Amino acid sequence: MTSSPKKPAPDDDLPPAVSSMWRLCKLGYRHEPGLMLAAFVLSQLAALPDALIALGLMLLGKGVLESRPRLVLASAIGLGLCAAATWFLRTVSTRVQRRFRDKVTIALESHVARLQASVATIAHHERPDYLDRLAMLRDQVFVLDHMYMSVFATCGWILRLVVTIGLLASVHASLALLAVFALPTVLTSTWRPGVEKVAQERAAQPNRLARHLFTTATTAAPGKEVRVTGIGERLITERREAWSRGHRGVASVRWRSAAWHTLAWAVFGGAYVGAIVFVSVGLARPPADVLLVLAAGSRLSAYIGATVGEIGFLRGFWVYGSRRLAWLEDYAASFHAAADVPIPASLGKGIRLEHVSFAYPGTSKLVVNDVSVTLPAGSVVAIVGENGAGKSTLVKLLAKMYEPSSGGIYVDEAPLARMPADQWRMRMAGAFQDFFRFEFRARQTVGLGDVARIDHEPAVAAAVDRAGAQDVVAKLPSGLETQLGPTWPGGVEVSFGQWQKLALGRGFMREQPLVLALDEPTAALDAETEHALFERYAAAARGGNGGRITILVSHRFSTVRMADLIVVLDGARLVEVGTHAELMAKRGQYAELYGIQAAAYR
Ligand SMILES: Nc1ncnc2c1ncn2[C@@H]1O[C@H](COP(=O)(O)OP(=O)(O)OP(=O)(O)O)[C@@H](O)[C@H]1O
Ligand SMILES: [Mg+2]
Repeated sequence: MTSSPKKPAPDDDLPPAVSSMWRLCKLGYRHEPGLMLAAFVLSQLAALPDALIALGLMLLGKGVLESRPRLVLASAIGLGLCAAATWFLRTVSTRVQRRFRDKVTIALESHVARLQASVATIAHHERPDYLDRLAMLRDQVFVLDHMYMSVFATCGWILRLVVTIGLLASVHASLALLAVFALPTVLTSTWRPGVEKVAQERAAQPNRLARHLFTTATTAAPGKEVRVTGIGERLITERREAWSRGHRGVASVRWRSAAWHTLAWAVFGGAYVGAIVFVSVGLARPPADVLLVLAAGSRLSAYIGATVGEIGFLRGFWVYGSRRLAWLEDYAASFHAAADVPIPASLGKGIRLEHVSFAYPGTSKLVVNDVSVTLPAGSVVAIVGENGAGKSTLVKLLAKMYEPSSGGIYVDEAPLARMPADQWRMRMAGAFQDFFRFEFRARQTVGLGDVARIDHEPAVAAAVDRAGAQDVVAKLPSGLETQLGPTWPGGVEVSFGQWQKLALGRGFMREQPLVLALDEPTAALDAETEHALFERYAAAARGGNGGRITILVSHRFSTVRMADLIVVLDGARLVEVGTHAELMAKRGQYAELYGIQAAAYR
């Protein structure tokens, strides 16, 4: 359901391990079926000759002890072939696997990026529990491709193990029990990554804090304020503390699990020695059999070690990574599930907010409290209120960046909650107060507002015009071709106000939006320029553009007064609504604020 995507919970809401792994397997197969099959078959073929070396050693020993030169020669050649085949198959299989991995990594990265971008709201960028999960996924998307190799390798080790146990059982059935004594090592190996991972997840929060403090202390953006406030030393100390806090827990868990693991291996070592004594003394078997048990037994420990190591790796990364990926897939899909109401081609009535309340994810304070108002089609609506009154939040709710905590928004009486967010936003234009500085060529920085026409020169020029940003472009050394951002080759830095004007231009790229939202996009401009710009937008809006609603947020009453409808917010609540004349006549909060500002200009 669009309005209530899956509720987050600690870790229990992650999809089950086995199905997640299976989904990841299918994902790989879907992208690279041929390479995946080839990599699997080759890795299994490469496992066989290695496991048969114990048999060759036994035959060689037998030939030497019984003075049978032919047997010696045959087993020596067999051993040589085994070694050569192991090397050859391993080399070929590694090459094929590398190719598969390269291709599948790109596919997985695009998959994760696409999923994140397709999530309809931006709530997942703000919830700490989601952020930690996404951070792990982002860091692990590079290792997710290892997983396929790891599964192939695990199958290979199991194949070797089966052959080796078969060889041991051929001497005496009870020798197969040797594998049972390796079980404690299997247990500790599978248990270890789990507990270590829990400790690591617990450390994710302090680690993120440490990274954040590091970035704050070392990057250019906060540089000025860090120096002026002199908090540099404090940042360093706090970063170190945050890091050690995270590391302490992980280290102690690692030590404890390592101790148990050592004990488990001691059990296997004892059994191995016991088996050799049993065959040579207890059963009084010929030296060739003892040799086979020696060789196969020592291989057994290596194979079991490798198998459990590989399984541990699988559990550690594959399960955690794939469960998070499956979660993200489900989470993204949950938004599409009920997006069944189409976006109207034009607005007939307008947008109605009905008892809309909202608290930011992870907080309980209502920043929009029970707001009911109708924004008529074809009108210019101004939202005013002091800092923090909830103006920008209201704009973000209209842009479907978040879903209201309660109440609903209706577009021509159809619920916005059930409209596909991406399509709705295609019909929105505007500039946000906290705009982003896209460091591309100026043409693309603006053109991004309508990706389909990103390189369309006349469209970009027209948008720059509408935003009144011609002066910014004129001052750039290569005009629209100028690279923005000083860290790029030939890039230039522009002032805050200039960035803002370019962002405004970006907001004007779409020509037929249903909603044009302007959230203080001109705060850096002088009052007169802002007034002139808004007059133009208002004229365009009233020109019958498919019922377009223009929403403007401004602290300047000279601009606000020309709106058709003025919405006054105070402490998250709607306190007054009406035209300038109506509100002035009412002598309420609006009239008072207007009076103060007018007096200041007099
Ligand atoms: N991402 C966020 N997470 C949590 N709280 C937020 C977030 N963004 C804003 N708030 C809080 O919501 C309240 C309303 O913020 P909002 O940005 O809507 O105010 P505003 O009216 O636009 O103010 P301004 O005039 O300063 O732009 C504020 O108390 C703010 O602290
Ligand atoms: Mg704001």
